[in-house]
Amino acid sequence: MTNNILVIGGTGKTGRRVVERLKLRNQKVRIGTRGNDPAFDWNNPSTYANALRGMDKAYIVYYPDLAVPGAKEAIQTLVEAAKYEGLEKVVLLSGKGEREAALCEQIVMRSGIEYTIVRSSWFMQNFSESFFLDPILAGYVALPQTKAQVPYVHADDIAEVVVESLLNEVHNGQIYELTGPRTWTFPEVIDAIAKASGREIKFSSTSLEEYMEMLQKLEVPEDYIWLINYLFSQVIAAPGNNVVTGDIEKVLGRKPRDFNEYVKETAKTGVWNQTITQTI
Ligand SMILES: NC(=O)c1ccc[n+]([C@@H]2O[C@H](COP(=O)([O-])OP(=O)(O)OC[C@H]3O[C@@H](n4cnc5c(N)ncnc54)[C@H](OP(=O)(O)O)[C@@H]3O)[C@@H](O)[C@H]2O)c1
Repeated sequence: MTNNILVIGGTGKTGRRVVERLKLRNQKVRIGTRGNDPAFDWNNPSTYANALRGMDKAYIVYYPDLAVPGAKEAIQTLVEAAKYEGLEKVVLLSGKGEREAALCEQIVMRSGIEYTIVRSSWFMQNFSESFFLDPILAGYVALPQTKAQVPYVHADDIAEVVVESLLNEVHNGQIYELTGPRTWTFPEVIDAIAKASGREIKFSSTSLEEYMEMLQKLEVPEDYIWLINYLFSQVIAAPGNNVVTGDIEKVLGRKPRDFNEYVKETAKTGVWNQTITQTI
């Protein structure tokens, strides 16, 4: 059966992968981003209805994070618009252990629309497609929370769970918690990336306060600094966030991809050996 599916954030880390996989399953996909036509902009609720019109289902990726002020109101408005436009199912990408994200989940769960909630641990791709890439390219990574054990999850695995959730009604009403098969600390991650890419990358431990000061000196936008502070102080070491789950295997019938596999495949792309363009 062919569905019309809106993929919000459809050019981002999980959204892009969801779009590729839905197309392979012969689904009609609309990308929900600011640059698409019709445009979808989280900061402009008047764009929601046009993007949802004619759709049967939607994958909801809030940007930048469900924890930021305003996310709850945006999700509420989106879900009301989705109901009005007659959508039958939504899949929400959520975080693990974030109180604010849980409030957004509640809005979706009480909407009256069929849903699946996909709570994800930190993405492996944060080191190759996001905020940790620039320090890696600079050859010097300084981070707080060096002892935190993080069960990083591969964005391909998230995308595959999202696609199954969108297309198969056995996942309706479910909450999945996605992790990789084991936990990694930051020093272990940087060591693995250095070895696989054949580069010297220095790692040093810093306090959260020093890290925030460094981001301010680098003129990182204030709302981004707020989010980083929140993630490092409230999320990364939150109770339960180091627990490895079996939900990927439950949904996909196979083990989750391992971080070593991600590091090997990503090193081959040359992304960790490119010339630096920007540092944060
Ligand atoms: N990164 C992680 O480790 C992690 C872990 C758990 C959960 N999450 C959740 O994943 C979500 C996405 O985070 P991410 O960092 O991975 O981002 P991402 O997927 O890389 O997001 C970028 C996407 O969002 C779109 N976008 C940006 N601003 C937008 C706006 N104002 N309106 C509409 N679309 C917009 C971008 O398209 P355009 O710029 O073209 O509009 C692009 O498609 C967040 O809700 C976060 O809580 C992330």
